[in-house]
Amino acid sequence: MATIRVSLAGEDTDRSYDVACGRGILAGIGQRLAACGAARAVIITDEAVADLHARRAADSLAAAGIALELLTVPSGEPSKSVAVAAGLWDDFARLAVDRATHVVAVGGGVVGDLAGFVAATFARGLPLWHVATTLVAQVDSAIGGKTGINLAGGKNLVGAFWQPRGVIADIETLETLPEREFVSGLAEVVKYGMILDAAFFEWLEEHAAALAARQGDLLAAAVERSAALKAHVVERDEREITGLRAVLNYGHTFGHAYETAAGYGVLLHGEAVAIGMARAARLAAILDRLPEEVVGRQDRLLGRMGLPSEAPQGLAFAPDNLLAIMARDKKTVGGRLRFVLPSRIGQVELVPDVDPALVTQALLGS
Ligand code: GLY
Repeated sequence: MATIRVSLAGEDTDRSYDVACGRGILAGIGQRLAACGAARAVIITDEAVADLHARRAADSLAAAGIALELLTVPSGEPSKSVAVAAGLWDDFARLAVDRATHVVAVGGGVVGDLAGFVAATFARGLPLWHVATTLVAQVDSAIGGKTGINLAGGKNLVGAFWQPRGVIADIETLETLPEREFVSGLAEVVKYGMILDAAFFEWLEEHAAALAARQGDLLAAAVERSAALKAHVVERDEREITGLRAVLNYGHTFGHAYETAAGYGVLLHGEAVAIGMARAARLAAILDRLPEEVVGRQDRLLGRMGLPSEAPQGLAFAPDNLLAIMARDKKTVGGRLRFVLPSRIGQVELVPDVDPALVTQALLGS
């Protein structure tokens, strides 16, 4: 098992925590909570993993003497809604959840973001744990404390920073992931290579086929490297203030627009991010910030992993609609479009004030 520390020691509080990566470690969740003095927990999970993984987490918590409730929400992005969050707040009130109750999110990015937001807001904050069972969650969404829900007008528009007490990334849980869900997570892995680590990008190129086939040791190495890169960024810019954490949004401004325009749940998050990274690289090339050759290299790696670099046939995306959604993005300042754009493999920059006509050109280009 590998342990990656997210160091968030402040002057008067230490909110540091570990991301544990390994095989079969889900069964140790009970001991981890017990070691933190937890006597009661609420598991929030979704229908897809309730029987598969949440039950094992529940058994582990019960074996450690922790009283628990299990709440299940429907699977998929539409659960990141005000209505589902309100339902959980009501459940928490009914169950007399108090500040000593630990919330354990068992699932992927949707469950983690939703449960994290409910944990951040109920009773002004409850201790939170992420048992990340998808690749997106293990390499990205469970690490770093971003929680939130969607509005019709945009992804993650309502949320809070709320760091977990710990993250469990059990590689075994990736074996049962549906193919589309697994492949979608590889987009976030490619993202780390593009934004921070050229050697990792080359390693991904070398092992693309084996990773897409979920070869165990390589997959564990990819999760560990991605989690370490994420931890490194979060430690230096926890609240996305200096611009460093903003690099993690590479592909996400375009991606969120595609995801929102398609209707939540139509494109998986990672699929939208893959399309978004392809558009962002193209925009960088249009702005003469990136050689065309690198645009093609990224497209090829995405393709070898089974990811799209174009919006799927049959879904119509009007550039004006995508631009309007991007204008509401959290990263937009004063209505001016800002993008995280690559300048070479392993390096990106925050580019302010991009001309919407050039964004349209990147949206239309193939
Ligand atoms: N997924 C982007 C971030 O955590 O900042």
